[in-house]
Amino acid sequence: MTRKKPVLTIDGASGTGKGVVGQLVATRLGWNLLDSGALYRVLALAAQKHGVALENEPALEVLAEHLDVQFKVIETGVPPHILLEGQDVTETIRTEKMGNAASKVGTLPAVRTALLSRQRAFREPPGLVTDGRDMGTVVFPDAEIKIFLTASAKERARRRYNQLKEKGIDVNLDDLVGELLERDKRDQERAVAPLRPAVDAIRIDTDTLTIEQVVERIMSEVRKIFSSIH
Ligand code: C5P
Repeated sequence: MTRKKPVLTIDGASGTGKGVVGQLVATRLGWNLLDSGALYRVLALAAQKHGVALENEPALEVLAEHLDVQFKVIETGVPPHILLEGQDVTETIRTEKMGNAASKVGTLPAVRTALLSRQRAFREPPGLVTDGRDMGTVVFPDAEIKIFLTASAKERARRRYNQLKEKGIDVNLDDLVGELLERDKRDQERAVAPLRPAVDAIRIDTDTLTIEQVVERIMSEVRKIFSSIH
């Protein structure tokens, strides 16, 4: 028996492809999508905008509770535009600096609790695909399908390097590996909701797989569980 609001979680470190894979799987299924990392990134940006220090837990908790963020779907199959206090911040939140700031605010327990109900509100029919670090362990522990993506640090840095190069941004590959490892360490070692696979997660190592192959692996799991879908 499956419920009317099934959830498929995709967790993993940065650069494992969760975002793009989540988008493609959600489009194939026609389900809603939550990029939970974007919430942490928007919160970090809001903190910067309002002059709140990234360590000020009580102030960040209040900011998280009142965060005026909108995910605006412009076109099916394309990531939504993200608005903070009505302003389009889709590109602004994607920098390495914001990723690092997001990972700092993400270590604060009060912030994580404040963002819980906001994330759970995305669970709407016909279903939800969500990606992050703790989707299968904390936010949706009862999800029907949990995926955990992995890839070596070298491969993840190489993917990020190519993405940035395409945008015309010049970066050093070794610096990227260093930053990735630093962020991994913070995400894995934090006291609350650390990055780790749920016990019932299906692990997929993406090092030698294309995005389409990862999507197909996930869709085959979906077909097993929801034999009525596709
Ligand atoms: O996935 P993305 O790179 O956008 O996430 C940015 C940061 O937000 C992560 O490094 C992580 O520290 C934090 N995050 C989190 N929990 C999530 C999603 C993201 O702590 N569910």
